[in-house]
Amino acid sequence: MYPLTIGLAIENRDLFEQARASLAGLPFRTTVEHRDLSDLSSFMDRLERIRPDVVLVDISTWAQPLEVLVGTIRNATGDPMIIAVNTSADADTILTALRAGVNEYIYPPLQDNLRRALEKRAMDRGRRRDGATGGGKSFGFFSAKGGCGATTLACHVAAELGRAKQKVLLADLDLDAGMVAFITKTKAVYSILDAVNNLHRLDISYWKALVSNGIPGVEIVSSPMTLASKTQPNDEQIRNVLAFAKPHYDWTVVDLGRSLSRIGMAAMEEVDEACLVTTLEVPALHQAKQIIQTLLDSGFGKARIRLILNRSPKRLDITVGELEKMLGVPIFAMVPNDYPELYETYAEGRMLNRASELGKQMTRLAQKLSGIEEEKQQGKKRFGLFG
Ligand SMILES: Nc1ncnc2c1ncn2[C@@H]1O[C@H](COP(=O)(O)OP(=O)(O)OP(=O)(O)O)[C@@H](O)[C@H]1O
Ligand SMILES: [Mg+2]
Repeated sequence: MYPLTIGLAIENRDLFEQARASLAGLPFRTTVEHRDLSDLSSFMDRLERIRPDVVLVDISTWAQPLEVLVGTIRNATGDPMIIAVNTSADADTILTALRAGVNEYIYPPLQDNLRRALEKRAMDRGRRRDGATGGGKSFGFFSAKGGCGATTLACHVAAELGRAKQKVLLADLDLDAGMVAFITKTKAVYSILDAVNNLHRLDISYWKALVSNGIPGVEIVSSPMTLASKTQPNDEQIRNVLAFAKPHYDWTVVDLGRSLSRIGMAAMEEVDEACLVTTLEVPALHQAKQIIQTLLDSGFGKARIRLILNRSPKRLDITVGELEKMLGVPIFAMVPNDYPELYETYAEGRMLNRASELGKQMTRLAQKLSGIEEEKQQGKKRFGLFG
């Protein structure tokens, strides 16, 4: 993770001790330390010379308008992250501080909030330094109820994009029963949990050590082998890992497991499109309907939901129109049922034969999701999705 430098001006004794203790456990360096804000000019002098990335300032004893303090700090150091530290969580004071231009407002206990704020900043800085372009698009695959085919589709879509000479990340966030490594024949030593547990030192070289190459052109970060003894990552950690990784790839494909789990919901904030995989079975359709409603209720735009009907029979008993009316969103794609083909595929320890009907459908799905067209149809730019 980017090695932030920190300037500290904290007069309140308790706040000072808490800030010091929190910073001691983090890989950042305190370069300016002041305990007396009455001598503001000497603090500013040092800020100007050392220009830390983050300034932590105690506003509990600050009597003048906060704009003055914030303005003076920004004048002295360019564009640091300003974190206001206070003894209370009074809503009006928080609002005033944010309006005055501070980036974060924290109060005791400082530790977790301070760590989170700094990790976020370090990641933003790290991304800029690593030259990530931030242009990547991401898809979260999850199944309406268990076994609808989310993992199968996520792995094959990622493989197709990899063949199209795209930089692809396939991330397994199904922490309970991740199968991405199995399907892609990836021998992973590390897992997504290593990223979560080392957020404070996550940079591109650390990340590259975590991912494996199971399929050409695709970097894979697996789910842990066993989760039994491990604690579940929190929402913020999941979001931070995805936010860090995404800009380094053209496409990020995430397996979010079954239904809308807590982790899935957290990840949803970082994915561009939610690929909900369902079958025509009544329980799956029922679940799909509930999930779509939950997504819409939580402000996830309808246009970002990609409903995929997997294992669809050749003849439907219900029309597409009826299905769409029932579920409230259009059907984005239909993938046929071909159990024997997949059975053979997995029994032989490989991925789908691209010439098979199901293989062709996977190609089509990847094309449709990514907007990358087949060369032969378009006759223009070569993307080589048919490789
Ligand atoms: N289009 C298909 N035709 C036939 N079988 C399929 C198809 N897609 C997936 N399957 C099979 O369905 C089973 C479940 O698939 P998969 O593991 O991809 O589902 P999932 O939604 O990820 O399940 P889970 O909820 O366990 O994560 C597997 O045996 C897989 O081979
Ligand atoms: Mg799965």
